[in-house]
Amino acid sequence: METEPAKPQNTTAILGAFQAEVALLEDRLAERKEYTIESIRFVTGTMNGRGAVIVWTGIGKVNAAMTTTLLIEHFKPREIIFTGIAGGVNPTLQPGDIVIAEKTAHHDMGTIWPEGLFFKGVKNRLTGIQNPVFFRADSGLVELAELAGGKAAFEKIETTEGKRLPKILRGVVVTGDVFVASEEKCLDLRKRLDADAVEMEGAAVAQICHQRQVPHVVIRSISDNANAGAIVDKQMFYILAAKNSSSLVFEMMAQAGILSHGQE
Ligand code: ADE
Repeated sequence: METEPAKPQNTTAILGAFQAEVALLEDRLAERKEYTIESIRFVTGTMNGRGAVIVWTGIGKVNAAMTTTLLIEHFKPREIIFTGIAGGVNPTLQPGDIVIAEKTAHHDMGTIWPEGLFFKGVKNRLTGIQNPVFFRADSGLVELAELAGGKAAFEKIETTEGKRLPKILRGVVVTGDVFVASEEKCLDLRKRLDADAVEMEGAAVAQICHQRQVPHVVIRSISDNANAGAIVDKQMFYILAAKNSSSLVFEMMAQAGILSHGQE
């Protein structure tokens, strides 16, 4: 086990919240090396010929922000891709379907007035400039994800009409330090933030990437519909969702030669 990694150019970082969300990708790394920094295990190697570093953040925004900061400090990745599961807020999404987040937002940040929560970003600690409510993903990475979506080897989704490939949607992913199992909250997130999916890490990673000027994209596959059945559904569809999200990321790495960073 080594401690301080070399910082090669053009490394792509892949993050997930749970070990199981990144394990499938870790298994596909060649020339593996492991580093432990502050007790967190980072695995480097090559995937589809491209340099990669993989780490799981743990659950929630603080763990995600901490791990992303350590990652940027020690590995200087060229871009960051987050992969994992999410609750579907868009009613057209079923477990196994995928959202490529064009933008992410904290759904629990701002001021709670008597009328409800008014969303507002905090100031960027590095520049003093107000952060936006929505963090935009890098447009080149979004396009790469969409391209990969047309080629990846996905698990099919069972429906009443038979099996189908996952639907892949460019959309809005919202993040908070809560697991959402409430239809009422879903309707609110859809109405007020136009959310397609809800999870617990994406906007925190995006905020660090925005503040440190590292291109990023969040990819999420649906494990539940964030309603009263969410906990049970998550157990049932977790593996399907984790697989579909990581298959898309694996294919992104195969197509990454075409990467050109657009917006951030
Ligand atoms: N991750 C997966 N499902 C979720 C949900 N319903 N709420 C928050 N994070 C999730």
